[in-house]
Amino acid sequence: MVDTTQIKTVSLDKLAESMDEKVVVRGWVRNKRDSKAIIFVEVRDGSGFVQAVVSLDDAGQEAFDLAKSLSLETSVILSGTVVKDERQVGGCELVVDALQIVQQPAEDYPLGKKAHGVEFLGNNRHLWLRSKKQWAIMRIRNRAKYAIHTFFQERGFIQMDAPFFTGNACEGTTTLFETDFYGETAYLSQSGQLYGEAMAMALGKIYTFGPTFRAEKSKTRRHLSEFWMIEPEMAYYDLDMNMDLIEEFIKYVAADIAEKCTEELTVLERDMSLFENMKSTFPRITHSDAVRILRGEQEVNGKTTKEILESDLAAVKVRIAEINAEISKTEAEMAAGGIKKGKLNWMRSKVDKLKNELKEEEEKERNIPQWLESAINFPPGEDFGGSDETVLTRMFGTPVFVYKWPKAIKAFYMKTYEDDPEFVKGVDLLAPEGFGEIVGGAEREDNYDVLLAAIKHHELPLEAFEWYLDLRKYGSVPHAGFGLGFERLIMWLTGVHHIRETIPFPRSYGRLFP
Ligand code: 4AD
Ligand code: MG
Repeated sequence: MVDTTQIKTVSLDKLAESMDEKVVVRGWVRNKRDSKAIIFVEVRDGSGFVQAVVSLDDAGQEAFDLAKSLSLETSVILSGTVVKDERQVGGCELVVDALQIVQQPAEDYPLGKKAHGVEFLGNNRHLWLRSKKQWAIMRIRNRAKYAIHTFFQERGFIQMDAPFFTGNACEGTTTLFETDFYGETAYLSQSGQLYGEAMAMALGKIYTFGPTFRAEKSKTRRHLSEFWMIEPEMAYYDLDMNMDLIEEFIKYVAADIAEKCTEELTVLERDMSLFENMKSTFPRITHSDAVRILRGEQEVNGKTTKEILESDLAAVKVRIAEINAEISKTEAEMAAGGIKKGKLNWMRSKVDKLKNELKEEEEKERNIPQWLESAINFPPGEDFGGSDETVLTRMFGTPVFVYKWPKAIKAFYMKTYEDDPEFVKGVDLLAPEGFGEIVGGAEREDNYDVLLAAIKHHELPLEAFEWYLDLRKYGSVPHAGFGLGFERLIMWLTGVHHIRETIPFPRSYGRLFP
């Protein structure tokens, strides 16, 4: 038994603070390697990881046998001494002197060591969350939430909450989840914005941070049916001030994550150039210019989309050839035999990694010509698709603001340009590397008559918007705000390919369990 009454329990993220001391650790077995006289048990406790070393000499026969019997996800309590080991994450390991099993897991733990398909992982989300990659993503999610609140709180914004049951649509009527509210039709909130505007007229600068619901009847890597949105709304702000705030905000959160989540970013193998690129100013281009750039009619830094994408494609082809050569070489060495078990395992995982990269590169090889094709033929006046956003941001390498949108493709509440009535003061922020739109915002229409006409034009039920129109009747002022899709932000910061990994229990078309 482990003596938990005399020895202090420590959490693994703080283990190094107890160097050379005796401690108790409570966690689960992540991995185990044994040799004749030593068993290495990788333990996780939620806060972090440690390699626990169980040797016959230090732990004795009984504990050694117990350690031998450990299987994946066994819950264990261990005691031992924290010793320095620079090779380990955190710079230490635990030399075990006693150990005790809390519960021996059933033998059929679904997420064993082998690779699993996404459907299977999704069905086992309740267990998948225990993996190291998910650990890293969830911790970044947590830290980002903290940074977001800090950013706004330090700047005098008041956090307020919009209702989730709503009587009216905000972002068009096609993605509404309808529900019954004591016999009345209600919708789950698509956005807290309209309420945010009312709150900004009362409190000045506010932000909401709540769940948002969109019935997106398609499976894409960027859409959830339930996601979280940060929505600041500011009285006396115009479009430019809005963009300034978005830029300061995104840079702040990214810098905070880069500073505070180094271990998590390492686990995720995030390309850190993202954080370097964030130091430059985000370009601000109008929708019309963005279209010209896509179509190759306007250059960026002396280059057209065609030139950039063609050189990307050539680089992809070179990389594919390199990877294939490396795989063949490594496989030949493995086949030749005479390699020690440890080295062999290392080579196997190297080949797996290369094959994954190959898949990604081959996907790019297929995609780039299609992206180029659709960019060059982009119909002016339309909304961008995912690939257009990828191409556009590729031209800059940083997040890009696209503003001044055609009125016809944007929401009813956006302010019309006084001197150019076909356009509205909306803005999207597009993230590079294929992550696409992370922010949507606008200066709001503050003129009663223009707004009324827009509501009618969009065939929205006037009764449901009377309270909203009131804001333009009683002391209307210029105001603006935006919505940041929290999971889109996390996707981008962590570099994960699919949005389903950025939220503990994703809800999307076809996914209600677990
Ligand atoms: O562009 P959207 O639809 O804008 C609004 O809802 C505004 N009312 C916000 C405002 O001005 N207060 O959504 C804002 C952001 C998008 O840029 C995207 O990041 C995210 O919300 N988003 C989604 N994220 C995940 N799954 C979905 N289905 C999403 N739809 C939008
Ligand atoms: Mg949008």
